[in-house]
Amino acid sequence: MNDASHDGSGTAAAPILRSREWFGDGGKNGFIARHHLRAMGLGGQNFQGRPVIGICNTYSELTPCNAHLRLMADAVRRGVLQAGGLPLEFPAMSLGEPFLRPTSMLYRNLAAMEIEEQIRANPLDAVVLLTGCDKTTPAALMGAASADIPAIVLTGGPMLNGKFRGRDVGSGTDIWRMTEDLRAGRISQEEFEEFESCLNRSPGHCMTMGTASTMACLTETLGMMLPGGSGLPAVDARRGVLAEATGARAVELAGSALTPSAIMTREAFENAVRVNAAIGGSTNAVLHLLAIAGRVGVDLRLEDFDRRDIPLLVDLMPSGRYLMEEFAYAGGLPALIDRIRDLLVPGTLTVTGDSLLGNCAGSPVYDDEVIRPRERPVQPAGTGTAVLHGNLAPRGAVIKQSAADPALLRHTGPALVFDTVEDYLAVADDPDLDVTADTVLVVRGAGPKGYPGMPEVGNLPLPKRLLDQGIGDMVRISDARMSGTAFGAAVLHVAPESAAGGPLALVATGDRIRLDVPGRRLDMLVDDAELERRRATWNAPASLADRGWTRLYVEHVNQADQGADLDFLVGKSDSSPGRRAF
Ligand code: FES
Ligand code: MG
Repeated sequence: MNDASHDGSGTAAAPILRSREWFGDGGKNGFIARHHLRAMGLGGQNFQGRPVIGICNTYSELTPCNAHLRLMADAVRRGVLQAGGLPLEFPAMSLGEPFLRPTSMLYRNLAAMEIEEQIRANPLDAVVLLTGCDKTTPAALMGAASADIPAIVLTGGPMLNGKFRGRDVGSGTDIWRMTEDLRAGRISQEEFEEFESCLNRSPGHCMTMGTASTMACLTETLGMMLPGGSGLPAVDARRGVLAEATGARAVELAGSALTPSAIMTREAFENAVRVNAAIGGSTNAVLHLLAIAGRVGVDLRLEDFDRRDIPLLVDLMPSGRYLMEEFAYAGGLPALIDRIRDLLVPGTLTVTGDSLLGNCAGSPVYDDEVIRPRERPVQPAGTGTAVLHGNLAPRGAVIKQSAADPALLRHTGPALVFDTVEDYLAVADDPDLDVTADTVLVVRGAGPKGYPGMPEVGNLPLPKRLLDQGIGDMVRISDARMSGTAFGAAVLHVAPESAAGGPLALVATGDRIRLDVPGRRLDMLVDDAELERRRATWNAPASLADRGWTRLYVEHVNQADQGADLDFLVGKSDSSPGRRAF
């Protein structure tokens, strides 16, 4: 069929599209790039200068939170076509929290690397990133940032509220609660199983303000998502409309200078950090934002997360009462942003081409219980993520104050130390465990190198002995992470980690540990000479990673205070079309 198979005229259209390097040539090279697309039934009109929009899909049945993205991609495709683009969907490594062992975090950087290389190596002018479950969003943002062609994120949206025996139940948060209830004998096994069948009622990601919801909100705040995109439930028909609009906007972004590095500026990260405090977001956001910032050369520091001026206004689990459905219906992120606009940096650009504050101007709050008025916060300013330093964490550690028993925020007690999380779990139910409410549980060997991959075990289950006494919280310290849906007085992300020779490796059972969150300190009350003696006899644990990805990871992963990216992935590379081999 003679249907104008190419545009070989050399006429430069504005904007200049990188896909023309592949498809715009009238000779053999353009032929080779085009003719296989014809095998998919695409006629020549597809190659005449339409922007090529990649739809990077983290759909997988091994990531149930993202399983509906296959359908959402169709809506994005409609939007791309309506706006005159050519949509080409491609799969990306998907990271599912429920299944991946030893932890999904081990693979975040691998997925980011894969997404970056796929974007750069292919004839794409812009890319829509379909994400949802915890690590998929930061991985896609990291990859897109390093490739740095125009990109726009569309998350799959949260699940509907869980409904159990007449009340709402939330992902993660109620699992932690009910598990402790089961261990303490407050509920039956039967009740626990019924709860399991009532929690996940629809497609979508966890609907508490866990890591997935947090990263969706922060992606929107960074400017990488259309306004209102973070909150709508996965099954809300308006998410389909949003998907169409996202595809259409990607076509407009193609070839423009509005790339991830132009949008994700220092000021945009400032706003993300502030919004994270106002929503009671996940401590995992600290790691992810540090890693994303590293990709675009923004000097974000761990200390930047310690905001004493931002109140917690969004009343969602795990810090509060409600779930993402209520947040969306209350006006969602645009309403929150408008409510705290004086606390944010104005002028940050977004994928709309307008500023974040411009996008959100006049967005009403429909429910003051869910998005609280400034004079009636869920928790006052300064009670969010605190960054601690001291002789136990020279490069820092974090604690989510809003999720901890306030009485424990200033606490001194004897350490009970375990080298691995398994060592602790083996004795957690021992009725004779030498533990009191004053004990400080310490678990090491759970950092990026040590585990490897820095798992979400920092919210260690309480010893059964304490549960039986009705005790609901205790100080726990580790180089691990904690699920964004979890709660408790958990000091996390201790850096350097024990496997890297951090002082956490030197703590011994019985040492007194002083946690002083108001003073932002974390210390072991052991004198320097004794610590030096211990260091002299300390041997780094043997690495279990002898080959493959895990070896590469362990050899190159940065510490938590730098976002646990691989050292050689920090930064970005030229996105111009590379050499061709034919
Ligand atoms: Fe996927 Fe929570 S398990 S978002
Ligand atoms: Mg999670």
